[in-house]
Amino acid sequence: MSTLARQLIAHLPKTELHLHIEGTLEPAMLLQLAQRNRITLPYSDVGAVQAAYEFDCLQDFLDLYYLGMSVLMHEQDFYDLTWAYLERVAADSVHHVEIFFDPQAHMARGIAFETVLAGITRALAEGREAFGISSRLIMCFLRHLPEEQAFDVLEQACRYKEHIFGVGLDSSERDFPPANFSRVYARARQEGFVPVAHAGEEGPAAYVQSALDDLQVRRIDHGNHALDDAALTARLVREQIPLTMCPLSNLRLKVISDMRQNPVKRALALGLLVTVNSDDPSYFGGYVNDNYRALHEALGLSERELVTLAQNSFRAAFLDDSARQAGLDAIAACAGKLGA
Ligand code: HPA
Ligand code: ZN
Repeated sequence: MSTLARQLIAHLPKTELHLHIEGTLEPAMLLQLAQRNRITLPYSDVGAVQAAYEFDCLQDFLDLYYLGMSVLMHEQDFYDLTWAYLERVAADSVHHVEIFFDPQAHMARGIAFETVLAGITRALAEGREAFGISSRLIMCFLRHLPEEQAFDVLEQACRYKEHIFGVGLDSSERDFPPANFSRVYARARQEGFVPVAHAGEEGPAAYVQSALDDLQVRRIDHGNHALDDAALTARLVREQIPLTMCPLSNLRLKVISDMRQNPVKRALALGLLVTVNSDDPSYFGGYVNDNYRALHEALGLSERELVTLAQNSFRAAFLDDSARQAGLDAIAACAGKLGA
């Protein structure tokens, strides 16, 4: 990798728009919280945790992801988790984050919605002070569970609109089409939540289409399989619907078998508003800048493409116009200073 590319990746201001906070639980913190909360896990040490993180598909990962989050019990645990993530990405020149959380997975274990939200939001407020990182919180519905449960959690969210900006859809994708959640998304939109959804990670292009038409999402999380459908791709370009792609996640979940198959470069060439993100960095082997580096190494992204990806991260973010322009100006200043 050229020195300039290395410096651009390290220093370009960027946002992260596809990040599950429960997926930032590093093995060391997992073991520490298990001990603190007296929870028995099937891992003896950090090496055993890392060795377990071998996945053949999304479901393989989700099984360990739900097991891992069982150590999160108290407000302080959610605070520690979120704080560690912010501290980590401050070092990656991340200026703004849009974070998913999965309250249903915690409520099923008897953890109150308020406990989860209080810990996360306290860390986000302090992260803004300490690192200047702004944030939005997106509450995900678990798509393998019935829509009635999504209504229950939406009711909770309605009490905390000042903290929760949007709703998303995650967990097992195959056989759980977006249209199953049309009614709860309609209610969420009425209540003022901005809608996004995972689609086209393992599911087909038709799920991306359904997320747009049935859920009226403003952004598609992943969206890899949208590129299988030329008419849908043309629509995504025309409407500039952002795709939040996650290269290391795709590789580790075997959505692709080699990083050279990653669609990010092709998506850029097609004029799609594509962004690069980490998804679940602790499980997939890298934070946002590691994703940029892996892409660059596999696909030989040009310096221009690296700058475009950083710009896209601000264009695709749910920021007001002045914050978006400030981010774009900061990118121009950084690129100018580095001579790109
Ligand atoms: N896909 C679907 N659900 C998820 C993911 C993902 O990559 N990460 C956490 N929940
Ligand atoms: Zn995701």
